[in-house]
Amino acid sequence: MLRMAKKICIVGSGNWGSSIAKIIGANAAASPDFESRVNMFVKEEVIQNRNLSEIINESHENVKYLPGHILPENIIAVPDLATAATDADMFIFVVPHQFIEGLCNEMKGVVKPGAIGISLIKGVDHSDKGFRLISSIIGEILKMDVSVLMGANIAHEVASGMFCETTIGTKSLPNGQAFKKLLQTPNFRICVVQDLETVEICGALKNIVACGAGFVDGLGLGDNTKAAVIRLGLMEMMKFTRVFFPEVKPQTATFLESCGVADLVTTCYGGRNRRVSEAFAKTGKSIVELEKEMLNGQKLQGPQTASEVVSVLKSKSIDLNEYPLFTAVYRICFENLPPSSFIECLQNHPEHM
Ligand SMILES: NC(=O)c1ccc[n+]([C@@H]2O[C@H](COP(=O)([O-])OP(=O)(O)OC[C@H]3O[C@@H](n4cnc5c(N)ncnc54)[C@H](O)[C@@H]3O)[C@@H](O)[C@H]2O)c1
Repeated sequence: MLRMAKKICIVGSGNWGSSIAKIIGANAAASPDFESRVNMFVKEEVIQNRNLSEIINESHENVKYLPGHILPENIIAVPDLATAATDADMFIFVVPHQFIEGLCNEMKGVVKPGAIGISLIKGVDHSDKGFRLISSIIGEILKMDVSVLMGANIAHEVASGMFCETTIGTKSLPNGQAFKKLLQTPNFRICVVQDLETVEICGALKNIVACGAGFVDGLGLGDNTKAAVIRLGLMEMMKFTRVFFPEVKPQTATFLESCGVADLVTTCYGGRNRRVSEAFAKTGKSIVELEKEMLNGQKLQGPQTASEVVSVLKSKSIDLNEYPLFTAVYRICFENLPPSSFIECLQNHPEHM
């Protein structure tokens, strides 16, 4: 018999994964289009002698990654990925990008044909397999259509039900609309666009710009400087997208969606990459040390994305001076350039020549 209600699986249960689970759980329970039970893959860890998955299933709170918020009771934490994924029709991928390839390989044999996915993961990958979007990695390994969702969505604000917007980028409008149905609420408003690459690249690159914003905060510079970082960062994001994805003709309008300018603004004022980079400029401690000290298991994306972007620029023999802000963030995080030198990439930016 044809099953009409779609079965949902969330791959990930960090800060953003748990926040989006609040929305998904409530929407799945309220609509006949979805099965009420939603599996959420939880990478098991022990918290005060108890398994995190058991704590979540008993208290409905992810005490490590989203403390203080109660998840709907139909969100079921499942520590075995293959069990969580079996028979699902719609997948939400929401883990730090460094883990996604391994997780997809674990899921390979159990994903049913015709299943669709959406990636909420902000990052890109550059390896011996070339430069790849996270949605492409998932799509290639699992042979499924993968849309993306990116926007000005700081997790704890979404979990608290504060109003925000977001953008779904998709190659398949019906699939994009199906995910909109699952994810939209009165306070989480979604625009669907068919410019997937631009939406995803915006989500990844903005974390590099956020590190720059953190450095200028740490250096005690003002709001004018921060605005310049945001604008010059946006220019580099637009140039990078046009250079690397000429075939999709990235739309300027997409940069004006929530995934573009709005996410840049919010992340340069509120996000974890900005916060840790500010502390980096102030304290001189290493990024790795600060990630451990300040983030309680959450992962930073900006420095790693800067490293991937610089590596892809070098591999294509592109002059790093074309992307001075991205390059300065990389050199400050990985090559001992002092944060005080960040201002030089703004002063000598090609936008002013
Ligand atoms: N937090 C936000 O405000 C926010 C908002 C929008 C998008 N995002 C993006 O969403 C994605 C996920 O972020 P998050 O905030 O949910 O995660 P997080 O930074 O809270 O990461 C912790 C998660 O990683 C998992 N993990 C740790 N080691 C692992 C391993 N070896 N293998 C597999 N999983 C492992 C943990 O179990 C936990 O679920 C990221 O790409 C992030 O950029 C985050």
